[in-house]
Amino acid sequence: MKEEQKVKLEAGLTDRLLEERLNNMPVSGSSDYALNQLIDLAKEGFTEFPKALIQEVVIQDLLQALKKSHGNYLNIKLPEIEQSIYNLYSKQTHSDNVLLMLCGFFISYQKKLVAHIQYEEVFLFPYIESLLEYQKSGTPIDRERFGKFTLKQFFENHSNLEEDLNEVRNKITANIDGLKAPLAFRIFMTQLEHFEKDLAIHAVLEDDVLLPRLVELEVHLLG
Ligand SMILES: [Fe+2]
Ligand SMILES: [Fe+2]
Repeated sequence: MKEEQKVKLEAGLTDRLLEERLNNMPVSGSSDYALNQLIDLAKEGFTEFPKALIQEVVIQDLLQALKKSHGNYLNIKLPEIEQSIYNLYSKQTHSDNVLLMLCGFFISYQKKLVAHIQYEEVFLFPYIESLLEYQKSGTPIDRERFGKFTLKQFFENHSNLEEDLNEVRNKITANIDGLKAPLAFRIFMTQLEHFEKDLAIHAVLEDDVLLPRLVELEVHLLG
């Protein structure tokens, strides 16, 4: 076992579980393995991780994983949810009209979500790549492109997409008011529930692993 993996964890059941996992990490210390450990822990509801495990993750691997899940949201999850709304629309009865209106809450949210992802893809991630390049080779960050952008500021204003989706779900549920929900609508609601869980894991990787590490690096490199 690697020396840095022998992390002294605080007492408690949670920490014992984490320690067990760290002890089982392969000697090669592959970043994918550490990343999967983090994802598994996030799925179980943890939001704090041992520093050694966080440091084990290579930033480029984490960026790849985040980009992959962005692609998954835009190309698979959202089209699947849209399909459910379409199914509801194509077989609508009177009460389904109300349900369709409720789906509108999600459609507004979806626009915000897509804009959030696009911003990260076209601005945040390229900035991170530039910062890493600066660290590696000293190539200065293109301030004409990135202006006065800082990760610290971005981190402070980074919105909680999973909490917003939770609000959408609650708003829809509160308005169903005894309406009999057809299968397409029930599928739609289950999809939202799963999507929210997925976004919560994504948020943990961004807010508890990626950004804290990079804000530290940014402060160290750029002051
Ligand atoms: Fe993201
Ligand atoms: Fe984000």
